[in-house]
Amino acid sequence: QELQLNLEQIEKGGYEHFMLKEIYEQPRAILDTFRGRLLSNEAIIKMAGIEDNMKRFLAADRIIIVACGTSWHAGLVAEYIFEDLARIPVEVEYASEFRYRNPVISEKDVVIAISQSGETADTLAAIKLARSKGAFVFGVCNVVGSSIARETDAGAYTHAGPEIGVASTKAFTTQITVLTLIALRLARAKGTISSSEFRQHLIELETIPNKVEEALQSDEAIKVIADIYKDSKNCLYLGRGFNFPVALEGALKLKEISYIHAEGYPAAEMKHGPIALIDEQMPVVVIATKTEHYEKVVSNIQEIKSRKGKIIGIVTKGDVSVRELADHVIEVPDTLESLSPLLTTIPLQLLSYHIAVMLGKNVDQPRNLAKSVTVE
Ligand code: G6P
Repeated sequence: QELQLNLEQIEKGGYEHFMLKEIYEQPRAILDTFRGRLLSNEAIIKMAGIEDNMKRFLAADRIIIVACGTSWHAGLVAEYIFEDLARIPVEVEYASEFRYRNPVISEKDVVIAISQSGETADTLAAIKLARSKGAFVFGVCNVVGSSIARETDAGAYTHAGPEIGVASTKAFTTQITVLTLIALRLARAKGTISSSEFRQHLIELETIPNKVEEALQSDEAIKVIADIYKDSKNCLYLGRGFNFPVALEGALKLKEISYIHAEGYPAAEMKHGPIALIDEQMPVVVIATKTEHYEKVVSNIQEIKSRKGKIIGIVTKGDVSVRELADHVIEVPDTLESLSPLLTTIPLQLLSYHIAVMLGKNVDQPRNLAKSVTVE
């Protein structure tokens, strides 16, 4: 028993929980994900699974992404990235819905299955269904040799290393990294991105591990915010564009480990319902980084403020407008809009982590949840 405890302590590498360790591992995990694949000097992306199947990818009229949970959120981020960079229509499906819907799939379709564990029963069943209809199925998994990795036609591993905490953190950011590499590679092949834009993306992607490191430095400030809002009964997360799925993921993290009811919403949809919930008791986390929609998000924040909601803004370093309105701001470094989810996710992970710890919850093994769901 004691030996077991000591072993676990060693595995946690000095961190109080696996989740915190895994949050802090992200700079390294993201680097490991693009190592050997992103060659910025030569301005190329090298991924065997893509190169070997380039014809299938280029012939596809659309890409269907199937996944569950956090991996589904990574799929939603990928939808924005693929459509923006590679101009390929993308549909993102809950694997559990897809498999039972008699979906329209043909031999021309490319299906990307995303799964940290590679063992999720619904995702596995969706893959089998898609393959039986002749679709080409590409896996994005973390666990090497897992069932999904074996059942797919080709794939790319995330190389995040083992993820023990039930709430997924580094798996999410490394999935987004792999999917960004794929989108960029396809964009180059299709000619939907200029060579200078392509190069700019590669150079910027290489800076992400350092920028994640910088984002992690807000930890103490986030703890202070966590302490203020830990007793809230509800919490709303808002984002737009590439950061809408990040809002969903932020809300999921809070639900999973702190058991506080949270909802993620596209900021502009707030007026169609959730705005009715806002009063002085309601913390609203708004991802308001410098993007194409920045001004619009600022006006969403004004609407929340005039209804006395408490605003926690995730902003780009040096931001002025949101700082004037929000109750709290957490800064992340500036980057390309398409890469911003890799940074805006970090403070949301830390916020939910600290709230759960302060509430005395079992962070690494939350009630009712399993790390991988191998049954329906
Ligand atoms: C479970 C886990 C989640 C995970 C989901 C999908 O619900 O608790 O953290 O996102 O399964 O898992 P996968 O291994 O397929 O990514």
